[in-house]
Parts: sequence; structure tokens; C-alpha cells
Amino acid sequence: MPTYLDANATTQISSSARDAMVNALNVGPLNPSSAHSSGEQARKLLTAARDDAAKLFGDIFPEDVIFTSGGTEGNWIAIQTFLRLGDTQLISSQIEHPSVANPISTTRNNVLIGVDARGHVKLKELSEALTSSALPTMVSVQWVNSETGVIQPITEIVQLVRDIRPEAFIHVDAAQAVGRVPLDFEGIDFATCSAHKLHGPHGIGLLYVSDHAVERLPGYMNGAGQERGIRPGTENVPAAIGMAAAFTERAENFDQHNAYMQTLRDAFETALKSRLPNIRINGENSPRVGNTSNVCFPGHDAMALIAALDANDILCSFGSACSSGKPEPSKTLLAMGLSETDAYCSVRFSVSIMNTESEIEEAAQVISRVVRDFNDNNGRGIQRTI
Ligand SMILES: Cc1ncc(COP(=O)(O)O)c(C=O)c1O
Repeated sequence: MPTYLDANATTQISSSARDAMVNALNVGPLNPSSAHSSGEQARKLLTAARDDAAKLFGDIFPEDVIFTSGGTEGNWIAIQTFLRLGDTQLISSQIEHPSVANPISTTRNNVLIGVDARGHVKLKELSEALTSSALPTMVSVQWVNSETGVIQPITEIVQLVRDIRPEAFIHVDAAQAVGRVPLDFEGIDFATCSAHKLHGPHGIGLLYVSDHAVERLPGYMNGAGQERGIRPGTENVPAAIGMAAAFTERAENFDQHNAYMQTLRDAFETALKSRLPNIRINGENSPRVGNTSNVCFPGHDAMALIAALDANDILCSFGSACSSGKPEPSKTLLAMGLSETDAYCSVRFSVSIMNTESEIEEAAQVISRVVRDFNDNNGRGIQRTI
């Protein structure tokens, strides 16, 4: 069995989530909008799933979260809903996931804020951008970076936005934060998450929408009005139930699960550093989620290293998971000040609660051996093949 160290890309569905889904699939036709008794049953199941899944979203009303197909759709709905206001300004950062960065890049008045060496959004640039235009404004920032695991100071960012532009909208991509950091949506208008990052099924997620946003923004999608009209379409009840089971498991074991993942990650980094003293951990001194390790192997092309590790049953990734395969250096690492060469030499390892201590120990040994083999082969690491 390969050792899967790519949990930020996706995770294995948990047995409780799978069982809950299978049970729901066996219940029968479940359309929460139907007027008959089967519809009533579906509504009850969906309400319970919403209540349970929302537990990881901090102190909110479950009715404020709507079901989506995942992080990409949640981000898209938040951004497109705001853009329907007409002439607007979108402020975001240089390190967003493509599901935020790409839609924003096509808008007219967008400002991309830089980050410092720790990977934190530069607050001075943010305040300048907030005062630079009187247009209706949305600020869109991620909570946790998928590549480095660096946690943004969201409370400080929200406070700054509210101090300067109290009426502005704030969107937070929380796809990598849910279940990994405690969340507080005070002052936030939209927050997105995705079930498959947390041992839930693919194709389902949640979007939190504040009353402030619902009252002021025109809807983006039109349809039969499900999910408060924000994301119409018949809800996927079995997937919602699967997500709720996975999220409940995390909510009930939040501290233990996160402490366990951090122990694995720290052991991994310590073992790697002792065997390969010249490696660097990108974002090491920043507040990071406990499951992510972004390692620069100076002189070693990440794509070739990942292929060699794959051949040795270690699965990891380069750059953002969704864009891996693209031969481009990571925008996040470049924005943090890494050279293009070092960005090309950086690999992401991300663990989940399904990894074991012995797997991690062995993975560190295998990685060190593969890197040393590269060194021995040509004396100066491997050449860039991309
Ligand atoms: C930060 C972030 N946002 C959004 C997404 C997209 O989520 P989904 O795969 O559910 O569309 C991802 C997926 O990697 C992500 O890491």
C-alpha cells in the first residue's frame, strides 16, 4: 500500500461517512422539496445533516449554511453574487487557490495584495486598497494556504476591513481550514468548505452566507429556490449525510485529531531535517495547520522527485493540488520571496488522521534515500525536466 501524504488534495472517505451515505442511499427516493411523506423524510434528514455539518463552522445558525458541490462552487457563487452589483472592486491576495484567483483575474477592478516572507497578507497594502476606491468592495482571502498550511490572521483582517469599509463584503475560502483550525465567522459574509478535504465524499461542500450579504446582494443563480435560492437544485441528501458524519467525527475529536496530525508532521520534519540538513521548510516559522509540510530540497526538481517518490510508494504533490501537473512554479512560494529555482524544488506533504507513526517514519527514510540517490547519480541533484 502506498503511503498517502497528499491529504490537502483529497482524503479517503471515513468508514462512518461511507456507512451513513450507504444507509441514506438505501432509504429510497429523497427529494427534500417533495410535498409527500418521502419528501418530509428527506427534509428531516437534510436538516439534521445541516445541523451536524455546521458544527465545525463555529457559533453560527445552521440555516446560514447552504449545500454546494464543493469549494470551487462555493467560491464561484460568492464572487459572482457580488459581481452582479455591477461596477465593483475585488481585493484579494497573490496566493489564492485557482478557484478564487482565476475568476478574480478576469474582473476589471481587482487588486492583488502581496504577502510577507511568512505568507501573511500585507495589512498595509490591504488598507491602502480599501481606501483607494469608493466602489462596492469585496475582500476575498483564504483562511489556510493549501500548499504551505500557513494560517492567515483572519480576525485581524476582518477587523481592518470593518474599520475602514464597514459595508464591504468579506469572503473567506476556508477549504483547508475547516476541521483544522477553530473557526469564527464574526464579520465574515461568505465562507466556503469542501467535504472531501476532511474524509467526507466528493462533490459536496458548504457555503456560509451572512444576513448582511443575503439582504444586500442580488442572487446569482436562478432556479426552483432550494438552499434559500442561493444554490438552487435538488439537494444531494446522501452526500450531505456523508459530509455531516465526517464533520461530526472531526468536531467530536477536534483537539485529539489535530494534535495527532501535528505529532506526525513534526516527527516527519524532524526526521527529514536530521537526514538531509540542507532542506528548508517553507513557512516553518509561521502559524501553520498541523498537517502540512512544504519542503524545499535545494537542487532537486520537485516534479522528478515526486515521480521518484511515487515509484517508491510515497504519494505527495507539487504546488497547489488542483494545478499539479502544470509546470509552473508555485505562486504562493514566489509571493513569499522564494526564488523560482527554490519554488521548483519544493514539495508538499500533507498528512491526515489515517496516517500512522510508522508510515511517517518510513516515509522520511525513503525520501532521504531517494534524495541521496539523486545526489549520488550526478553529484549536483537532478536537472529540471519541466
Ligand atoms: C484552498 C482551496 N480552495 C478551494 C478548493 C477547491 O475545492 P473543491 O475541490 O471542493 O472544488 C481547494 C482544493 O484543493 C482548496 O485547497
